[in-house]
Amino acid sequence: METHYRKKDLLGIEELSRGEIEHILEIAKSFREVNERAIKKVPTLRGKTIVSLFYEPSTRTKMSFEIAAKRLSADTYSISTTTSSMVKGETFLDTIKNLEAMKPDVFIIRHSQSGIPHRIASITPVSVINAGDGQHEHPSQALLDLLTVLDHRGSVEGLELLIVGDVLHSRVARSNIWAFTKMGAKVTLCGPPTLLPLNTLEKLFYGTQVKVTYDLDGAIPEADVLMVLRLQLERQKLSFFPSLREYSLLYGINSRRLQRAKKDLIVMHPGPINRGVELSSDVIDGARSVILDQVTNGVSVRMAILYILAQRGSEL
Ligand code: CP
Repeated sequence: METHYRKKDLLGIEELSRGEIEHILEIAKSFREVNERAIKKVPTLRGKTIVSLFYEPSTRTKMSFEIAAKRLSADTYSISTTTSSMVKGETFLDTIKNLEAMKPDVFIIRHSQSGIPHRIASITPVSVINAGDGQHEHPSQALLDLLTVLDHRGSVEGLELLIVGDVLHSRVARSNIWAFTKMGAKVTLCGPPTLLPLNTLEKLFYGTQVKVTYDLDGAIPEADVLMVLRLQLERQKLSFFPSLREYSLLYGINSRRLQRAKKDLIVMHPGPINRGVELSSDVIDGARSVILDQVTNGVSVRMAILYILAQRGSEL
């Protein structure tokens, strides 16, 4: 088993070994101290060039990659759909080849189409980070989620992770299922049958030990970690449930519903949150919530990813 991360790209958690995941997390922990300093900057990636291409909106991922890169002294640049020459008809692949000619070290790509970062990684020598591709994977999110659980529980091995909500459209769920099962957790998925169709899940998660339940109140008392997913209304072409009110009633998490939960259950959400739909304000802002810890950990994890990939081929 690979114990050090030596890949050119970070495209998904599915293709990583436990050793590679642990390697990234160890480096992330070592960068935490930089984020606590008065002057939050080290020269580690001086002279490295990082280009972000976000073709879908983002607050957390885009900003934390940018903050991470700047704290490591890399030069950062970003391009978006509306400001690039793609509006004049240039293809994405031609855009990449032209940017590649400017000799960057890393591309960070978010795109609505699953598989785009993989395609780009196969045609460029530049390291590619998948910052979320369609409904496929969001690897840096799963890594920061692992780090957050490690912080609060010490270990992931044997923990019961309950993922609730729009699993069908969620790249966060997919990456986390790979990440947590590889690290020894037991994963249960819960949501309305329309957003958790058994035939689709069997194809997606073959080889993993995920359980599926439609009984949220029955599953909550067993859970150590509750990961609530955003209802991805922008990806829902069909009507998957009668109304937001009904969804919230059946699958929304509120403090009344958590009364039967374990005392040390922690509640996570990748953000952005539909406040009052999948999570109530009393839970978001309550004692069990580690949602902002996830955001804080995003910076250290992304520093580690950039450090490993941008240093490739350089002397450490
Ligand atoms: N969790 C996450 O990917 O958030 P953003 O869409 O704001 O980046």
